[in-house]
Amino acid sequence: MSDQRYFFALWPDEGVRERLSNLAHALQPGEGRRHHGEDLHMTLVFLGQIAPSQKRCMEAVADSVRGRAFTLSIDHAGYWPRPRILWASPAETPRALSQLVADLNNALSGCGHEPERRSYKPHVTLYRKAQRVVPSPLEAPIIWQVNEFVLAASATPGRSGTRYQVVRRWALETT
Ligand code: 2AM
Repeated sequence: MSDQRYFFALWPDEGVRERLSNLAHALQPGEGRRHHGEDLHMTLVFLGQIAPSQKRCMEAVADSVRGRAFTLSIDHAGYWPRPRILWASPAETPRALSQLVADLNNALSGCGHEPERRSYKPHVTLYRKAQRVVPSPLEAPIIWQVNEFVLAASATPGRSGTRYQVVRRWALETT
């Protein structure tokens, strides 16, 4: 089994990525490791290490899921003290996003995937190992029109730090 770790995610387009990157710069949580701009994303389902047959099964699941496009308003920043993660998130989770995550999790159980026990909390990690930042609404929300989801993987060892790559993309229905 490869040591790459896989996950389904939302990957921002260039405009949203730039705004998320600017937000990360602006928040400056003292210490902390900022995500590389190109790696900013919102995880839908974390899969971890998977065998090639399982990966095929999971891609077939994504082929079969009929998700709908939606708009995210990234309007809050917050902090989780235990993993020391500084994140940005939508205060409201669109129904189409919850549905997409639920549909993926349900269908992935047929590939031997165990769904997360914790409830899904959509977020974009901006910093790891950050010092505490008081949760706050953002001055201007970042509007993110989501028309696709992706399968992503941690990049092969040898590159500096953890980097991610998009493996495949699936369109969400816009009508
Ligand atoms: P995070 O940003 O909150 O750390 C790749 O590691 C992506 O999968 C990250 O966005 C990470 O979320 C998410 N993820 C969810 N559960 C994970 C786990 N158990 N281990 C590593 N990453 C996980």
